[in-house]
Amino acid sequence: MTSTWIEPASTATALLLLGRGTDPASERGVDCPGDLPAPSDPDLVARATAAKAALGDRVFVLGHHYQRDEVIQFADVTGDSFKLAQQAAARPDAEFILFCGVHFMAESADILTTPDQKVILPDLAAGCSMADMAVLGQVETAWERFEDLGITGEIVPVTYMNSSADIKGFVGRNKGVVCTSSNAKRALDWSFEQGSKVFFLPDQHLGRNTAVLEMGFDLDDCVLYDPHKPGGGLTDDQLRNARMILWRGHCSVHGRFTLESVREVRERVPGVNVLVHPECRHEVVRAADYVGSTEYIIKALDAAEPGSSWAVGTELNLVRRMALAHPDKQIMFLDRAVCYCSTMNRIDLPHLVWALEELVAGRVPNQITVDPDTAHHARVALDQMLALP
Ligand code: 13P
Ligand code: SF4
Repeated sequence: MTSTWIEPASTATALLLLGRGTDPASERGVDCPGDLPAPSDPDLVARATAAKAALGDRVFVLGHHYQRDEVIQFADVTGDSFKLAQQAAARPDAEFILFCGVHFMAESADILTTPDQKVILPDLAAGCSMADMAVLGQVETAWERFEDLGITGEIVPVTYMNSSADIKGFVGRNKGVVCTSSNAKRALDWSFEQGSKVFFLPDQHLGRNTAVLEMGFDLDDCVLYDPHKPGGGLTDDQLRNARMILWRGHCSVHGRFTLESVREVRERVPGVNVLVHPECRHEVVRAADYVGSTEYIIKALDAAEPGSSWAVGTELNLVRRMALAHPDKQIMFLDRAVCYCSTMNRIDLPHLVWALEELVAGRVPNQITVDPDTAHHARVALDQMLALP
């Protein structure tokens, strides 16, 4: 059967996709040392296959669902950020964990693996704009404000996996927990057993959507702490009365889907099912038929009836892959324009070949290491997540 997939229109950001060379405007702005193979090299697939075979069990390749197909084909396991964290922890025999994903995921893998294992990110510029919206100094300033108000005893800090190791360390030091989009409700249930308030970092949307749509809180129970405003832009009473103190961060990819895109697709495709990730804005999630993590989205599309129609609000590489895998279902992108995660897309086949060949040559490229003190405290918060009922 022929697929009904229609590629969304290209946008200016699509020009950033190759991810080669120095990008001083990126949050990390790091060049790739050494010689990258040319993207036009016809032998890239053969070179990656040969290098991976030469390394054998010494290397284990993890691939996040938002990675390009050209990279995903070399992943030993694919998954969302929760599954990949579990998989990294479950591979103590692999000398090298090659992480095809973004920086915060590779940091978590380093924290969860043994000291002898080396975690490699094929392009150091593969950061995450959401993770960069919460910087440790800003978070400590917020916490000092809560201490001055005398409310820290009631607050449990919760950080989304999409945060730096520093932030996870802060959360571990303050008896909190990490969560991902597939266990946010369980993490919040646990947190509200420990205290009466949650300080949720850095994704306001995941925090709000989980609290309001899954746990029965009112929007008024949530306040938004803006690190760029004095005192977070909140009064003492707002902080004292809030149940959820949300950090003002968001995902630039999922933040692009709007209520208008939901209305437009419903008009255009009668009977369409709208399926979105909880990083989308609250009004979009409310207007959708289904909401869930990347793994949830994949399972929902796998299980969908042949002939059914789906408009999916998540990263484009994943939506396109699902559409091509299910030609008997009409799977379309919720936005009309291209919407890749440009940092995820920095990991391309040339970077993968380069990283694998460096390992074969006995050099360890782009190793991600978290300092031992931060790693210790971050691990407390990650282990708390892995132990959630
Ligand atoms: P999950 O992998 O937890 O679904 O998160 C999506 C995402 O944005 C990863 O960066
Ligand atoms: Fe970060 Fe959003 Fe990209 Fe995920 S999709 S890595 S949250 S910018």
